[in-house]
Amino acid sequence: MVSSVVNPHRITLLPGDGVGPEVVAVGKEILLEVAGRFSLDLELDEGVIGIAALERYGDPYPEETVAKVLKSRAVLLGAVGGEQTGKKDYAKRPEAGLLALRNSMNLYANVRPVQVKDALVPSSPLKPHVVKGTDLVVVRELLGGLYFGEPRGRERNAQGEETAWNTMVYSESQIERVVRKAFDLAMDRRKSVMSVDKANVLEVSLLWREVVTRVHKDYPEVSLSHQYVDNCAMQLIRDPLQFDVIVTENMFGDILSDEAAVLAGSIGMLPSASLGAERTLYEPIHGSAPDIAGKDVANPVGTILSIAMMFHYALEAPEAAQCIETAVHESLKQGYRTRDLPAEGAKIVGTREMGERILERIQRGGRD
Ligand code: IPM
Ligand code: MG
Repeated sequence: MVSSVVNPHRITLLPGDGVGPEVVAVGKEILLEVAGRFSLDLELDEGVIGIAALERYGDPYPEETVAKVLKSRAVLLGAVGGEQTGKKDYAKRPEAGLLALRNSMNLYANVRPVQVKDALVPSSPLKPHVVKGTDLVVVRELLGGLYFGEPRGRERNAQGEETAWNTMVYSESQIERVVRKAFDLAMDRRKSVMSVDKANVLEVSLLWREVVTRVHKDYPEVSLSHQYVDNCAMQLIRDPLQFDVIVTENMFGDILSDEAAVLAGSIGMLPSASLGAERTLYEPIHGSAPDIAGKDVANPVGTILSIAMMFHYALEAPEAAQCIETAVHESLKQGYRTRDLPAEGAKIVGTREMGERILERIQRGGRD
């Protein structure tokens, strides 16, 4: 791994694939506006990742981008991936670039908050009384488990049949660092952690549960419960109000966070922060959505709220984060929506206009 000194003012934008460039363009304007308002001196840089990087360098996360990223205080990512699927060589897929990016920045904890503000209740496919008031966060381990475990591969076995395998593996220290993050987060929230595993079947989960139980001793004020992942998948849509902080391994977290996104009406709404010891990355969780790319219809709110998380975690400017969140909620209350969030009486606007409406509110917020 290239080692580099972090420049505290440097933010690298990685627009990436599909709708990524559109949402990051909107996000960039908001980032600059809010930084100006709160007198934060930022230098923005930009890099390539994913399909564009594969086309230009034959590598989804080229050295040039690695160097920019490792010098940065924070990274804003649009999306990676797209229709280039079906390739058997994983190293040459755009998604391999995303995993390499996470690994290079040592981002072990992925934080995905899901908040259902009243203005969004009618957009959720679930009944209002079930979703109203939902305020939870999924903390997903990001560098272990099936995504990175060795051995992995495929080959034809002795009987001539294709066989493929991946390995779910975790060490105690890998579990402990993400679980501590979850408990720390819970201390600033409603002090309740739900650890999710499959301890009735998997050795990895038994170790996970032991480590969680041990770390819990350092957080006596936090209440800890455990759920099996299949039950949690059901509970999330049956009674989301029972959750405050959910902590789980990589693939369970990938799946549960998409499911949780439905509570907020659209995956386009949801931000994320990926945290390491020194570096942090922010990205909307919606992915590249190649079917709607370039049409000015993608929802920029996930990206805008990710920038709010950047101000909170990386730039230690909670008022700036609050200013963005308020502007987003005001715009939603006014009825502005992208088309993924239909609601009665909604004013459906495109990506750019949604961004402009939010930007206007940020500008007005500063004057009032
Ligand atoms: C996510 C995405 C990625 C993941 C894909 C694109 C590799 O689904 O960030 O949740 O599985 O981590
Ligand atoms: Mg996912």
